[in-house]
Amino acid sequence: MRLALNMSLHFPNLKASPLADNLKSKLLGGLVALFVVGLTTIYIYYRMKKPKAKSKILVLGGTGYIGKFIVKASAEAGHPTFVLVRETTLSHPDKSKLIETFKTSGVTLLYGDLSDHESLVKAIKQVDVVISTLGGQQIDDQVKLIAAIKEAGNIKRFLPSEFGLDVDHHNSVEPVASFLAKKVKIRRAIEAEGIPYTYVCSNAFAGYFLPTLGQQNVTAPPKDKVVILGDGNVKGVYVIEEDIGTYSIKAVDDPRTLNKTLYIRPPANVLTFNELVSLWENKIKTTLQKIYVPEDQLLKSIKESPFPANLKLALGHSMLVKGDCTNYEIDPSLGVEASELYPEVKYTSVDNYLNAFV
Ligand SMILES: NC(=O)c1ccc[n+]([C@@H]2O[C@H](COP(=O)([O-])OP(=O)(O)OC[C@H]3O[C@@H](n4cnc5c(N)ncnc54)[C@H](OP(=O)(O)O)[C@@H]3O)[C@@H](O)[C@H]2O)c1
Ligand SMILES: *[C@@H]1O[C@H](CO)[C@@H](O)[C@H](O)[C@H]1NC(C)=O
Ligand SMILES: *[C@@H]1O[C@H](CO)[C@@H](O)[C@H](O)[C@H]1NC(C)=O
Repeated sequence: MRLALNMSLHFPNLKASPLADNLKSKLLGGLVALFVVGLTTIYIYYRMKKPKAKSKILVLGGTGYIGKFIVKASAEAGHPTFVLVRETTLSHPDKSKLIETFKTSGVTLLYGDLSDHESLVKAIKQVDVVISTLGGQQIDDQVKLIAAIKEAGNIKRFLPSEFGLDVDHHNSVEPVASFLAKKVKIRRAIEAEGIPYTYVCSNAFAGYFLPTLGQQNVTAPPKDKVVILGDGNVKGVYVIEEDIGTYSIKAVDDPRTLNKTLYIRPPANVLTFNELVSLWENKIKTTLQKIYVPEDQLLKSIKESPFPANLKLALGHSMLVKGDCTNYEIDPSLGVEASELYPEVKYTSVDNYLNAFV
């Protein structure tokens, strides 16, 4: 506009002659064309650069151990984030504080309960993606959630409460075997109902395992002796909870994880127990006494231990003796590995994580 105006100011005497008029209109035409092309280019450029709208995410179990990391990652990634909470939980001393932090990070609270169908449908209708981080006690009850998702009919992705081993690939014994079988049932129910899904196999939560190096009845990592299940040469995988949140949230809008299992196996965190012990020994500059527990002896103590010691030992058997985190290749038609898919994520290594406990 200003350019066109300047032109007429600079060539006032051209107004008179028809030849000059012709030249002027050509010039103006050219400028208009240039202007239109420029605007179109800018428009296309910004359309391409503008990220697609982020899915709205509903978390059930957001006040739970892993749930809070998922909620945080969702809000930080800019997803409109909703958490279904039970009204009774609002008065719980620790959880009410957590719920306050949700509010300050812009999370929308919806009140409801897994056993209140209407509350589920109402919440689900407001979002695109449902993530369940319900606890071990609620695995079976997720059929209620599946029914509500089915009725609502608008969900683009469902992440059921998994966050552990691949329940379709394991060699665990009781009581872990029946626990994992519940998660298998939920997988099959999701698939039968035609709900798009992603199963997140996060392997071991770092915070559950590393602060004690998986030792029983202790509150700090060992400084003198360490119990090693099996021969300690089997690879396990330990993932820091914040990273589980980050990877899970990256997967929700990713077509590459649609109807797939997302395996989280950050290379630096795929370690044998012996490697883990030696990382720790280097940090504390001490050589630990090593007490090896052969598999048959371990199986016997799993049978003889009360709950929950038997569950912990059986998880140790599955991961540290049988190698259930790593003893199979990822089938690319069924699964993808998170650190390969999202190389931009700077995950925390076990090595760094352990520094906090020295
Ligand atoms: N890989 C590993 O090392 C590892 C370790 C632990 C767990 N996991 C897995 O991670 C998943 C989550 O476990 P978690 O230990 O994080 O869970 P959790 O701490 O037990 O949390 C359970 C959540 O479910 C909510 N909830 C319970 N009953 C409900 C109901 N009737 N209606 C609505 N919400 C209800 C709880 O809400 P309130 O706050 O209101 O009670 C809480 O937010 C499970 O699949 C578990 O197997 C994996
Ligand atoms: C994803 O899986 C569901 C079954 O859980 C199926 O109905 C749906 O068609 C699948 N989507 C794609 C794109 O394969
Ligand atoms: C841990 O403590 C429980 C209860 O005191 C006991 O039964 C169990 O044997 C202990 N386990 C180990 C490995 O010391």
